[in-house]
Amino acid sequence: MAKTSHHQQAQPAAQRAATLRDAIDDANYRYYVLDNPAIPDAEYDRLMRELEALESDHPELATPDSPTNRVGAKPVAGFAEVRHAIPMLSLANAFTDTEAPAGVDPEHEVRDFVRRVEQGLGIADPEFAVEPKFDGLAISLRYEAGVFVQGATRGDGTTGEDVTANLRTVKAVPLRLRGKAWPTVLEVRGEVYMPKAGFDAYNARMLREGGKPLANPRNGAAGSLRQLDPRVTASRPLAFYAYGVYLPPDPDAVLADRHSAAMAKLRGWGFPTCPQSELVRGVEGCLGYFAKIGAMRDRLPYGIDGVVYKVDRYDQQRELGFVARAPRWAIAHKFPAEEQATVVEAIDIQIGRTGAATPVARLKPVQVAGVTVTNATLHNADQVARLDVRVGDSVIVRRAGDVIPEVVRVIPERRPPHAKPWKMPTHCPICGSAIEREEGEVAARCSGGLVCAAQRRETIRHFASRRAMDIDGLGERYIGDLIEFGYVHSIADLYTLALDDFLEMKRRAEERDGAIPDTVKAGKIASKWAGNLVEAIEASKATTLERFLFALGIPEVGEATAKTLARHFGSLEALMQAGEADLTEVSDIGPVMAGHIAAFFAERRNREAIAALRQAGVHWRESAPQRRTDGPLAGRTVVLTGSLSTLTRDNAKDKLEALGAKVAGSVSKKTSFVVAGDAAGSKLDKARALGVEVWDEARLLALLESHGS
Ligand code: IVH
Repeated sequence: MAKTSHHQQAQPAAQRAATLRDAIDDANYRYYVLDNPAIPDAEYDRLMRELEALESDHPELATPDSPTNRVGAKPVAGFAEVRHAIPMLSLANAFTDTEAPAGVDPEHEVRDFVRRVEQGLGIADPEFAVEPKFDGLAISLRYEAGVFVQGATRGDGTTGEDVTANLRTVKAVPLRLRGKAWPTVLEVRGEVYMPKAGFDAYNARMLREGGKPLANPRNGAAGSLRQLDPRVTASRPLAFYAYGVYLPPDPDAVLADRHSAAMAKLRGWGFPTCPQSELVRGVEGCLGYFAKIGAMRDRLPYGIDGVVYKVDRYDQQRELGFVARAPRWAIAHKFPAEEQATVVEAIDIQIGRTGAATPVARLKPVQVAGVTVTNATLHNADQVARLDVRVGDSVIVRRAGDVIPEVVRVIPERRPPHAKPWKMPTHCPICGSAIEREEGEVAARCSGGLVCAAQRRETIRHFASRRAMDIDGLGERYIGDLIEFGYVHSIADLYTLALDDFLEMKRRAEERDGAIPDTVKAGKIASKWAGNLVEAIEASKATTLERFLFALGIPEVGEATAKTLARHFGSLEALMQAGEADLTEVSDIGPVMAGHIAAFFAERRNREAIAALRQAGVHWRESAPQRRTDGPLAGRTVVLTGSLSTLTRDNAKDKLEALGAKVAGSVSKKTSFVVAGDAAGSKLDKARALGVEVWDEARLLALLESHGS
């Protein structure tokens, strides 16, 4: 395809190759340096394929700076050593002292650094080039006559590893320089990193494909660059920011009079530089920048672990010089570590307001990102199993930004002997009801929705809400007070409340809140308010079965399902006696929902709470199940799957039911036939597997028509 393109016929091969390389390099430059992509990925890929075809037809046209080199050369047995022309220095660290006692400035390390710079230079408020400290891997890139010739890791600062072939695959690293006025030999220093989005996408793919996920973006960058097979590196989402430059062999030769100007030159030649870099003055400028970057840290597309302050003017840098292997003119101001090791002392479960059971690790207290952490979420039973966290384990805990601390991984070498795998408890620690987990659901939950103290507030709020029992005026605030002062332990208690209880509760709540003293007028208003509430509670006793079912707050059972259940079973007794299998026969009730409903009514405490409600006077009119038993389809069970072109599913269901059919939600041996529309899925497969008759839409329509529907 590429070989026969009209361009190639119009242009000699060498010229066409040059045109393609320019276009591809330009696309990279716009993407990585200008952050302003100009051509779609598909177009980029097309240019690349054409160039590859051209170079394979004309091997003499291949060059080391051609973008085709980015796909990755052949694997190597090991990396050669590279002696850096100019040593790669390290940075001294300054920390914010998160445990500074009163009177000690938590930023004294940064202030000391700036003071030393000021004293060394004999000036106040020097200019600093400031930028984030990237969480990746330091590398050095050598260019000769504008062409990338060698790339190396930092190693011990004097000698590193030759990772040229791997670095060629990193599209943010220019293989040749733009423009013209570059020096003959140029060494650019910077950081190879893995952007957060690329890291997340890569790990999501690994989890999908059963591969090994990367521990964090930093390890992702370092591990990817140290691959012996450059094609592996090519498959990893790596990027690069330049943060320094040298003109070997002279360590003092400079591109400009200051660092920021030299960086601007690099940018023009095609090196990505960090858009968050700035120039500031003095210690306040540095600390202001630290605070600003700290606040935007979570939103940055790359990982960082602090910021770096560098004296901007090169003459000032030279005047300050070095101590050991670190410059006196720069420092890394680090954020408090977001990960720490500690020990799991226990694994409890926490019951949420809707009953979800979340395993929580109780930890030996540890400082993480400036805060003492004693608990970390383990999210759910699957996560505990995936991490294999056990009581007694040493673990890495992470706390980033505002997120809840979490256990990242276990340190296997430190596992005590006899540590046992964790299991979800069988009963709720709060109310003793069974903990249930429906197949296919991530969350386990306490099934004692009506009695569990952890769920009480939410249960009562939902029970009293307008679309449920509709107890007018009983909002969240009063529910909270009723619970707090012990007037209500479970929903049935609502029906025992008298006028005086409300008045007393109100008085106690006002006392607690330090609110206004009682006056005659306020007393009258309060009596009216309490009277209204008592009346509303009384009025709610007369309800309907569907409202009552919805009010119970069974997981997954919304208004529509409550209505379906009420219609199908006709009475609460019939519903409570239904097993999971009977429930899945009801249309629109899948196995998960059926499981929730069955578990709810299986819990003795819930049944007792329902009995107490009826005892208190909650009632409704029960009716026979609403299904024709004399229609032409009486006794037949039908399942609808996929989408029909002439009817909505509800429509089809109504019509079938009008003829006496039962429309079920899942296929079983008892199913009479399945109507399969477009894109029918697992239900159709199941029907076929069970040998259940399958109808298409035309046949359904013919049937409906023959019965005048
Ligand atoms: S400047 C002589 N700028 O920090 C100073 N370093 O100890 C040369 N690093 O591993 C370094 N982000 O990879 C500089 N914006 C930045 C940086 C940065 C990360 C790393 C560097 C090296 C360490 C220096």
